[in-house]
Amino acid sequence: MRLTTERLILRPPVAGDIDAIFEGMSDWEVVKTLARPPWPYERQDAARWLAMQDDLRADGQKTALMLALKTAPERAIGCAGLEAREDGQVHLGFWLARSCWGLGLMTEACAELLRYGFEDLGLARIHSGCFRDNEASRRVHQKLGFAVTGESRILCVPRGESVDHIDLALTRADWAAANGAAGIGLAHAGETR
Ligand SMILES: CC(C)(COP(=O)(O)OP(=O)(O)OC[C@H]1O[C@@H](n2cnc3c(N)ncnc32)[C@H](O)[C@@H]1OP(=O)(O)O)[C@@H](O)C(=O)NCCC(=O)NCCS
Repeated sequence: MRLTTERLILRPPVAGDIDAIFEGMSDWEVVKTLARPPWPYERQDAARWLAMQDDLRADGQKTALMLALKTAPERAIGCAGLEAREDGQVHLGFWLARSCWGLGLMTEACAELLRYGFEDLGLARIHSGCFRDNEASRRVHQKLGFAVTGESRILCVPRGESVDHIDLALTRADWAAANGAAGIGLAHAGETR
C-alpha cells in the first residue's frame, strides 16, 4: 500500500531503509520520546525491526509506513503507523528525523494516515498518546483533533524508567466532523476495526 500527501509519500519499509532508520533512531531526541526502542540503538535493531514489518502487516497487526519527501523519494525521513494492540485498540505512532522537524510534515502524514484508518479500514476510534514532556507531539495530536482520555505512567525503555504519559484518542465521528468527511455509511465498526 502507498499513501500520498501534498509533500510526502508513505510506503511500506524496505531493506534499503536501514540507514535512515538507524540514523533517525540513533538520535536521543527522537528515541527518548518513544516507549519501546532499545538504547543505545544498534544497526541490528533497525534490521530486526525491518525484518518483522512484512509479517506484522500481513497479519493485520501493524501498518508501519516510511515517510519520504516527493522531492527526494529514495530517502526515508521518518515513520508513521497504526498498530492493533492485544486489547483490540489501534494506536498511532510516529517519528521524524530531526532535520525535518517544524515543517508540518508529521501533521500532514498523520492526517492522511488517519483518513486511511477511518475511511479505508473503517476504524471507529484511533488511540494515541505521548509522554507529558513531549510538547511537539502534543501539538501534533492537538492539530489532528485528538482528545485527552486519561493519564498514565508508561515504561520508556530508552530512559529506563516509567514516565508520565497523556492518553489520547480520536473517534471517527469527531474526525469526520472536523474534516467534512462522510464518516457514516462505513461498516459499523466496533472499537477497533
Ligand atoms: C513529534 C514530531 C513527529 C513532530 O514532527 P513535525 O513534522 O515537526 O511536526 P509538525 O511540524 O507537524 O508540528 C509540530 C508542532 O509542534 C510545535 N512544537 C515543536 N516543538 C515544540 C515545543 N518544544 N513546545 C511546544 N510546541 C512545539 C511546532 O511549533 C508545531 O506546532 P505549530 O504548527 O502550531 O507551530 C517530531 O518532533 C519527532 O519526530 N519527535 C521525536 C519523536 C516523537 O516525539 N514521536 C512521537 C512520540 S508520541
